[in-house]
Amino acid sequence: MAKLKLCVLISGRGSNLQSLIDACADDAYPAEISLVVSNIDGVQGLARAKTAGIPTTVISHMDFKSRDSFDASLREAIERFDVDLLCLAGFMRILSDGFVEYWKDRLINIHPSLLPEFRGLDVQQRAIDAGVDKSGCTVHFVRPEMDTGPIIVQAQVPVLRGDTAADLTARILVKEHVIYPMAVKLIAEDRVDIKNEQVLIDGNGAPEGGFSPLTIY
Ligand code: GAR
Repeated sequence: MAKLKLCVLISGRGSNLQSLIDACADDAYPAEISLVVSNIDGVQGLARAKTAGIPTTVISHMDFKSRDSFDASLREAIERFDVDLLCLAGFMRILSDGFVEYWKDRLINIHPSLLPEFRGLDVQQRAIDAGVDKSGCTVHFVRPEMDTGPIIVQAQVPVLRGDTAADLTARILVKEHVIYPMAVKLIAEDRVDIKNEQVLIDGNGAPEGGFSPLTIY
């Protein structure tokens, strides 16, 4: 079967990109990365892509007057390659509604909280401040409203007494590196459907009262 072709969008360190690069290094993994795009030059994620021999493009949002013109340039750059699925991996730009609609159901994101809890920024500190006893990460399809969209996989971690934001971030990141390649694999294997804005995996939705059809611990 042909491999699913990915474009990974980053803005920084690229550790989630690395988890996808590592997964794709296995011949049996059903996806491959066609392109890495960063909106910031010189970031570690670009070096990771180059080391892996993956084409990279930098499209700096600073060079554009509007979000729409930035997104148009992004779209043009992506369409020069064969891409089936866009993966946001620490990409810290909000995409225009038009861009999100164009890539609807072919655009996924990883976020370091148990969505729908804690959308937006600084979520680990906010989780600690809220006194929750568990947090985690979510891979979801992207919709125009930030950090919303059908959830594919979540992983849970405990929030421990005395945790700093750095402690919790590190604990969550370990799980991010597990669930991002897992979600991409499920999509590549054609096991993921969206019905009424809920993900079904092999035809099964989230358990009663839950948001994610697949949660790992
Ligand atoms: C990750 O923790 C990712 O979940 C988060 O940025 C980090 C990027 O790390 N993304 C968001 O907060 C998006 N809302 P990485 O560059 O090492 O993959």
